[in-house]
Parts: sequence; structure tokens; C-alpha cells
Amino acid sequence: MSEMMRVENIAKSFTLHVQQGAVIPVFKNINMTMNAGDCIALTGASGAGKSTFMRMVYANYVCHEGNIFVRHLNDWVDMVHAEPHTILNVRRHTLGYVSQFLRVIPRVSTLDVVMEPMKIFGIAAEEAQVKAEGLLARLNIPPALWSLSPLTFSGGEQQRVNIARGFATEYPIMLLDEPTASLDAENKAIVLDLITEAKDRGTAILGIFHDAAARDAICTSEFDISQYRVASDA
Ligand SMILES: Nc1ncnc2c1ncn2[C@@H]1O[C@H](COP(=O)(O)OP(=O)(O)OP(=O)(O)O)[C@@H](O)[C@H]1O
Ligand SMILES: [Mg+2]
Repeated sequence: MSEMMRVENIAKSFTLHVQQGAVIPVFKNINMTMNAGDCIALTGASGAGKSTFMRMVYANYVCHEGNIFVRHLNDWVDMVHAEPHTILNVRRHTLGYVSQFLRVIPRVSTLDVVMEPMKIFGIAAEEAQVKAEGLLARLNIPPALWSLSPLTFSGGEQQRVNIARGFATEYPIMLLDEPTASLDAENKAIVLDLITEAKDRGTAILGIFHDAAARDAICTSEFDISQYRVASDA
């Protein structure tokens, strides 16, 4: 199986400038690899650093120690040291991230929210629209809502729009932060199907799933981040 991601010796601590520079250590010495077709469950107690780890892989959070290599267009990019334009390219073509909450841009329609990453990827507008409509329908977002901003949607509706947006482009690597957290059983099953289809295509997936049944149904292995926890002296 081809290797898609390799994390070497990363550590994270937060420095709180508002509190005289107090340092809050989170974890250290994390090593992991992810192959095409893997679906790895990132587990650990609340506060263990699961979301933090994911944000570091996506280069949203600075990493002061270690390397995070992702395979990008037959090359390896270290997300810790890459230039901003390289990071943007990796996010455009290689690395998808479904955050826990949709970041809603005012006045942009739901359809445009879902189509945006496909347009950036270079997919033609008509094709992107067909794909976006198909995903929204599959995720039970009524067509009457497609032209509206998701700003006033329910939590579960916003989450499904976020998932449609994340899955519209077939990224080789995907990060999923609690993608089924606020969904009912029917919609949860649809999202698990989407994840399984991506995995079967060879996408390497790292996911946080609060729900053990969902995890057991789709994950190929588990990575427990708690074992890398650094106790705070405070
Ligand atoms: N931007 C930040 N500034 C300071 N501390 C932070 C920041 N982000 C996260 N933390 C701290 O890092 C630790 C890990 O947080 P994180 O959100 O990664 O946990 P988690 O494992 O995803 O938990 P949950 O299961 O509750 O979502 C927590 O103690 C949190 O307070
Ligand atoms: Mg979290």
C-alpha cells in the first residue's frame, strides 16, 4: 500500500500570551503513518489534543517540533516547513479537511459553498454544479434551501453542507473532525457510506468519531493520542 502521510516526532504546546506567557503542553513524540485506503480513528479523551493534531496536519496550527510529510502530486511536502503557497496547493489538490463546524460566509448560497472547492480544484462549473446538487440531495438538504445561505440552517444541516463541501472533491487524503456528531441515524448512515466510498477509492482518512459504533463500522485501525499526553506542571 502506498504511503500517503508520515508524522515524525511532533509535539505541541500552547503559549498563552494573555497569561504571562504560560505554556500549556499538550502532547509530544507523536509518530504515525497513513497509507492509501486506511481509515484511522484518532481517539483519546476530551482535551487530549485530537483536534489540535488535525489542525497541525492541515497547517492551521504552528508546529515547533517534528515533521508532517504528506504525499502531494508524487512528491513529499513537509507541512511544518512548507511555504504558504505550497500549503495552499496541498489543500487545493491533496488534503481535504472537514472541520466540526461550517464556517459560514455571509450571503454565499449553499450551492456555491459546496461548489467552491471544486472550482478551485479546476472542475468546470456545470460539472461542479451537478456534483454539488447530487451530494446535497443525497445528504437530504431540500432543494428549496440550495439558493439560501446556510447561515440560518440547523446544526445538523450545516454539518451536512460542510460534508458535501468536503466530499465534493476527491482528495487523496482527508481529515474528518467528528463528521457525524450532530446527525440523526439516517443521515449518519449516509455520511458513513460516503466515507466508505472514499476509503474504497483509496483515500487515506484520519477521522475523529465520538461514536464507537461508527468508528467500528468504518475504521481500519485506531490511533490513541492519549498515550503521548504531556502532564502540565501547573
Ligand atoms: N488555540 C488554543 N490555545 C490554547 N489552548 C488550546 C488551543 N487549542 C486547544 N487548546 C488546548 O489543547 C488541548 C487539546 O484540545 P483539543 O481541542 O485538541 O482536544 P480534543 O482532543 O479535540 O478534545 P474534544 O474531544 O473535546 O474535541 C486542550 O487542553 C485545549 O484547551
Ligand atoms: Mg476536538
